Amino acid sequence: DVPLETLLRRPADIIGSADNAGHARIPLPRDLFQPERINSRGIEFGERAAVNRLVAEVAAERASVAPVNDREPIDVHRAAATARSGFSSWSRTPAAVRAAALERAADLLEQRSARFIALLQREGGKTLDDCVSEVREAADFCRYYAAEGRRLFGEAQSLPGPTGERNTLRLRGRGVFAAISPWNFPLAIFMGQVTAALMAGNAVVAKPAEQTPRIAAEAVRLLHEAGIPVKALHLIQGDGHIGAALVAHRDIAGVVFTGSTEVARSINRVLAGKDGPIVPLIAETGGINAMIADATALPEQVADDVVTSAFRSAGQRCSALRLLFVQEDVADRMIEMIVGAARELKIGDPSDPATHVGWVIDGDAKKRLDSHIARMTREARVHFAGSAPSSGNFVAPHIFELNDARRLTEEVFGPILHIVRYSSSALDGVLETIADTGYGLTLGIHSRIDDTVEAVIDRLQVGNIYVNRNMIGAVVGVQPFGGHGLSGTGPKAGGPHYLTRFATEQTVTVNT
Ligand code: SER
Repeated sequence: DVPLETLLRRPADIIGSADNAGHARIPLPRDLFQPERINSRGIEFGERAAVNRLVAEVAAERASVAPVNDREPIDVHRAAATARSGFSSWSRTPAAVRAAALERAADLLEQRSARFIALLQREGGKTLDDCVSEVREAADFCRYYAAEGRRLFGEAQSLPGPTGERNTLRLRGRGVFAAISPWNFPLAIFMGQVTAALMAGNAVVAKPAEQTPRIAAEAVRLLHEAGIPVKALHLIQGDGHIGAALVAHRDIAGVVFTGSTEVARSINRVLAGKDGPIVPLIAETGGINAMIADATALPEQVADDVVTSAFRSAGQRCSALRLLFVQEDVADRMIEMIVGAARELKIGDPSDPATHVGWVIDGDAKKRLDSHIARMTREARVHFAGSAPSSGNFVAPHIFELNDARRLTEEVFGPILHIVRYSSSALDGVLETIADTGYGLTLGIHSRIDDTVEAVIDRLQVGNIYVNRNMIGAVVGVQPFGGHGLSGTGPKAGGPHYLTRFATEQTVTVNT
């Protein structure tokens, strides 16, 4: 039984959202997956018993997490070819039947949330809060795409025409989609990609990140149980070589990918070199995401939102804040408050409900981040160097100040924040610097001047912009997620146009 005091030391309380009555809010598994509650990011702390029950259930699941037993090396060719034969009957299955299977999958996810939370903690190093949000997001994707699928793929749409002519337009699946997903949201993004492709009438061969195979295996088992035919959904496990072989396979009619810009480029090259039909790529990659805080912003709120955006999930979100621009008039005060909030973070075992920052995904990630920290420690001003357990893949949160934002040339995927001061007359230069990164995924603006906010939004081609709040945790159907330029090809996961990107369109004209 976890004392309430321990739970109250969670990020939602220290750095995060409090409702108007001042109650800290934390997402809980009960009542979370109802579409009508989609706007509500949690329920109140009064539900202590529910939190405690969840902690106990997760602890029990941890002990019983079995090794992956369905990881038999399925040959890429066999999977793609079988999926192709599965496509013909799945694509003809009525949209309402496909949607019902996704809704059953959402129900099963909720019923098994403790198990998935345990897997996410064990394989992904995620905190309880992050795990709960992720299971909820996965179920939201299932329900949202089911609803959208009914709308878009149900009846053919009637179009106008002259007397004696009937015109209709309908959407159909493309064929076999390769779904290549990342380790940082091994359940939500995996399920989002796969269910979107399936709902649109495609068969799928999924290749999850090699760091998180068990979660993917359990998710596929669940989808089959929910009614997705075995032939329509295949799982292959392995590293980038397997992914490359999959993308190159002649039966692949579309690719959905989330991961690095570099890998997206290489997928594009493989697709461009293929004979046969031109194969579309839906890519969501990373960003050097910036936030701008001017002198009119509320410092306490900036501090909360910066720490949440930069350090939650150990900074391993593609939406995470990397580069904070603070107007120099208020910079000292704001930096002091941000550092104060960062000091409150507890870094450690993600299965401890009091932990705010768990481990980073693996030894390679730790090495890369440690080397960036070492370089920044030499070259920049150090405002905060947190401490983390010495054994395990922990990286302590760090805050550096750079004198020139252009020194940050690539995405640093971890709990490291870079701050740059700007003078009130230099906002144009800040916007130019952000645009020049070439990325366009998320952007935060903290300002009480409407004209400034509008000018920034207008100037920057960024997929997700957050004003006077944190810049992570896009909600399915509420903040459709995806970026431009180096950040991806644009389609918005969890948005009303997403499913159409997985489909072909067919117009039928009948002379009556
Ligand atoms: N969709 C996640 C977020 O909004 C990032 O991948 O934080």
